[in-house]
Amino acid sequence: MSRLVVVSNRVAVPGENRAGGLAVGLLAALRERGGLWFGWSGKIARNGGTLHEQTDGDIRFVTMDLSRSDHDDYYNGFANRTLWPLLHFRLDLVDYDRGKREGYRRVNALFAEKLAPLLRDSDTVWIHDYHLIPLAAMLRERGIGCRIGFFLHVPMPSADLVVAMPEHARLFSSLYAYDLVGFQTRRDCDRFASYVRLFGGGRIVGDDLLEAPDGHRVRTGAFPISIDTQLIASQAKAATGKAAVRALRKSLEPRQLAIGVDRLDYSKGIPERFLGFERYLQRYPEQKGNLTYLQIAPISRGEVAEYQTLRNQLEQMAGHINGNHAAPDWTPLRYVNRNFAHATLTGFYRMARIGLVTPLRDGMNLVAKEFVAAQDPDDPGVLVLSILAGAADEMKEALIVNPHDLDGVADAIATASTMPRDERMERWRTMMEHLQKNDIGAWRQRYLAALESD
Ligand code: F6P
Repeated sequence: MSRLVVVSNRVAVPGENRAGGLAVGLLAALRERGGLWFGWSGKIARNGGTLHEQTDGDIRFVTMDLSRSDHDDYYNGFANRTLWPLLHFRLDLVDYDRGKREGYRRVNALFAEKLAPLLRDSDTVWIHDYHLIPLAAMLRERGIGCRIGFFLHVPMPSADLVVAMPEHARLFSSLYAYDLVGFQTRRDCDRFASYVRLFGGGRIVGDDLLEAPDGHRVRTGAFPISIDTQLIASQAKAATGKAAVRALRKSLEPRQLAIGVDRLDYSKGIPERFLGFERYLQRYPEQKGNLTYLQIAPISRGEVAEYQTLRNQLEQMAGHINGNHAAPDWTPLRYVNRNFAHATLTGFYRMARIGLVTPLRDGMNLVAKEFVAAQDPDDPGVLVLSILAGAADEMKEALIVNPHDLDGVADAIATASTMPRDERMERWRTMMEHLQKNDIGAWRQRYLAALESD
């Protein structure tokens, strides 16, 4: 078997707790097969490009520092102020700047320069997410001929949105340098094919097969990412004994818990969710006081202006909702910006009657899957899930909502809160069976089998 080399901006280096869904998923994938994981060290240094190396079991981690200006242009700038909003269908928030675009290319070139000498011809290289779209093309320019695959963790927007970005073709046609381009859902994959056909100068030549303008063929596919289902289930069961989980339970009694856990990001629809919860309080006065909504939203990308604005907005909204609806002995909405250990979160999920996952747009959303895996099989909670999350394609027995429809969200909360146990068990069982068959290991295997087949 060839050596697996994973490349992503964020790396879950041993001993660090701060990792998004992507890093958690990749760590689980690498644990099974071993290999090299290359990416940003998470550190800003006077001189970018310094490499750090450590090993944990079969995984070798090589990470690279970035200089302040590279980090500003590449991560805070082009990745998170241009590509992130574009890929989440938010043209209104796209900030395009040639200097930032060049910074993004410069950092991708730095990745290529540092990674190329570590690669062997027999390696399988798997590059992740919107931070590193041009990396394969830059590795190819440096003579790297091994198999290289790409996986986009976020949505692929429709072609008409993509073309609103200046020089879109220069960036998106660099995807032709990959052997396989993977997406979260079939719709993402189809939207990419349509972009290639309409604006990318290429052709669709078969199912999941595209031809670039130079005649080179690229395979595509839908590979919905998942979670380590068994691990989450056992972690959640064990977590019920943790002090933080017990303290939460005690503080709630006798009320039900509704929980939301999201990076503080405008794509997650947290303001709309707050309003949906308020609408629930208004429309279901007979249920008032039955449940407490805990929103955990760790600060994310705090140097980016849009994220600071969102933070201020949510603080105001939480104060407003509680001011209008709280009772002396009850705060309906608890809003917490700190992060918790992953195992503790699974304990919180297990205790909750309702999981609120209502993004305005999301590639997959692994909180939705983790919420299901964490439930007590004899008394499971109900997932309220946005139709605009990739996970809605699979978690069909959730209460599916449109996050823009506040009345619909309010109704779903009320339905979940009063849903009989039999119905909760039936819905949960079907989703859990799906997650047991389609876990993170199955995702890795499916993707790599496709990449490594001819
Ligand atoms: O899933 C999308 C993503 O951007 C991942 O690439 C990343 O790991 C996660 O969200 C967290 O974001 P960030 O790395 O910017 O903190």
